[in-house]
Parts: sequence; structure tokens; C-alpha cells
Amino acid sequence: MKFNIALLKGDGIGPEIVESAVRVLEVVGKKFGHEFDFKAYDIGGVAIDKYGKPLPEETVSGCLASDSVLLGAVGGPKWDTLPGNIRPEKALLGIREAMGLFTNLRPAKLYSALKDDCPLRSDIVENGFDIMIVRELTGGIYFGERGMREGKYGEEAYDTECYSRMEIERIAKVAFESARKRRGKLISIDKANVLESSRLWRKVVHEIAEQYPDVECTDMLVDNAAMQLVRNPAQFDVIVTSNMFGDILSDEASQITGSIGMLPSASLGETKRGLYEPIHGSAPDIAGKGLANPIATILSAAMMLLYSFGLSEEHDCIVNAVDKVLEEGFRTADIAHGAPALSTTEITDKIIERI
Ligand code: IPM
Ligand code: MN
Repeated sequence: MKFNIALLKGDGIGPEIVESAVRVLEVVGKKFGHEFDFKAYDIGGVAIDKYGKPLPEETVSGCLASDSVLLGAVGGPKWDTLPGNIRPEKALLGIREAMGLFTNLRPAKLYSALKDDCPLRSDIVENGFDIMIVRELTGGIYFGERGMREGKYGEEAYDTECYSRMEIERIAKVAFESARKRRGKLISIDKANVLESSRLWRKVVHEIAEQYPDVECTDMLVDNAAMQLVRNPAQFDVIVTSNMFGDILSDEASQITGSIGMLPSASLGETKRGLYEPIHGSAPDIAGKGLANPIATILSAAMMLLYSFGLSEEHDCIVNAVDKVLEEGFRTADIAHGAPALSTTEITDKIIERI
């Protein structure tokens, strides 16, 4: 089969880690008889420098014309003082919206080879954990009405959390389907003791639950969820939650794996076309030094093969190669704890050798 992939390398370590993932995809393509055609477009800080805006139109149209999109990372100190609407991060929101990517899948699992990197007490993570966070991505407070106004105490700013029944229904269905394919357990996270939008969220999730009697669905308040994630992460299978709660909880979940450089993500909509990116940021301090861990991006490319192209064998092949490399003890600097570490290209070579 033949696939067109748009590459959004972005800033900092973005270009290096995307390059690694491209090399892996090319080898997988050769092995399984697929052709991947790559076209690169600018996004984030590099786009600001070139075009004066973080998300040029041709980047959007290039992504929409592709079969799927692989993104590195955006942002850096150089662009940190720009106004909100032309910051690199704005491009992420823009491309999610333009591509209609309302689902964000963020798996957070503890690698047995990296158990010692986990900051939680060993008795808490004895049996490991494997969580799939399903975050709503194009609604809620990120996209609600916002502005400045004169209030009771003078100048004030506001942002609005708003969810429609339709938005909750479609993300809930994705989460139930995911739970059905995993361990059949879904926890919906909200703040229904305070927020009206959460009360609708909870009501709609319960309605959808009736279509999935095989999935055990429970609710959890977000403050409790933040606590439970560090108290007993193994109780979670699939989590479904709003845009902002998902943003916060997925950072917490990634941190308890101890290896944020390993975690991929997928953003999906109604079509097969998705956007795949590592969870971590652009790490400008180590950019260009060959120190970056490319595994999260390589695993993001693997998710693309599975979710956008339906290539499960090819997906598994990459995941197994990464597992092997870790089990054999190869590490990049971020997970080496001072022991000798491989460079970005060296660890990519090790993964490729095992494909
Ligand atoms: C993420 C990031 C983005 C978000 C920012 C950079 C806009 O934190 O992908 O989690 O909040 O969604
Ligand atoms: Mn975030």
C-alpha cells in the first residue's frame, strides 16, 4: 500500500526525532511492502520566523491533503514572549481544530525495563500499570468564549468551559470502544459536584454506557483522580475526560511512568487521518546535540500505522523492536541515569536492527 505522510517537524528537538521516526517507517515499509511518501511543512516557531505566523495555510492544506500527519514538537524560549494568538502553541490548537481531531489518545504504561525510573514507591507499582487516557481535544475551555472586560474589581479576563451533548457523546463512544478492546473498564472524570458542564458530561456518559453493558463504567471527580493516579495507578484502564482535565491528568500520568521521552499520542477525528506526536515538548536546551530520545516519536509513528492505516502487524513490529532495545539495556541520556547512553541516531539504529 502507498501512504502520504505530512511531516511537521517543528522546533527544538522536533527535526531530529521526526527524522528517526521517518527512518523507522522506511524500514518497516520495505519489510512489509508499503510505500511512504513524506512531505514536510512548517509549524510553530520556525513558521513564525519564516511567515510571521505559527500555522501557515499551506501547512493546514498539506495536512488535509495527506493520509496522516506526524508532528515533532513546537515552541522555545525565542517565541515565549509573543502575544497568545501568534505563539507556537497556538498552531497546535489550530491544526487540531482544522483537522477536526476531537479525540486525543494518550497511553501511559510502565515499561518493565524502566521500573526503576518510576517515581512511585515500588509496592505501589508492583504489578505495573497501563492506562489509556481519552482526552476530548476540540472543545471545552480551550475553545470556549473568552475575553477581557470591566468587572466588579476592574479589569478582568474570562474563559468559558462549554460542552454540547454531541461533543460528549462522540468522545464517550471512542472511550467505550477503546475500553471494550482493552480490559473493559472505563472511568469518566469530571467535576460534577461544581460544574454544570460536568453534570451534562456525566449524564451523557451514563446514557452512552447503556449501549456498552460489557464495559464497567464509573465516575470519578477530577481532584480525586489526581490523587488516585499516584495512590493506585493500576486501578485505571481507560480514562475519558474533558480537554483541560485531560491535559493536566495526562502530564501526571506520563510523569509516573518515569519516562516522558517514551510516550506517544494520537489525535483522531471522524476520518482515518490523524495527527501523531510525542507527549514531550521541544526540549530546546538539548536540541541539535543528538541527546534526544526518539522513542516517543517512533511509537507515535507506530500508532499511525495502527489507527490511520490499519497495519497492526507493522505496528506490533515497531513496538516489539523498542521493547527489545530497552530490555537489552540500551538507553538514551534521559533514561540512562549517568550510565553510558546512546545518541538519537544510535538508538534509532538499534531499533531498526530489530525490525
Ligand atoms: C498538550 C499541550 C498543549 C495543550 C498546549 C501546548 C497547547 O500542553 O498537547 O498537552 O494544552 O493541549
Ligand atoms: Mn499538555
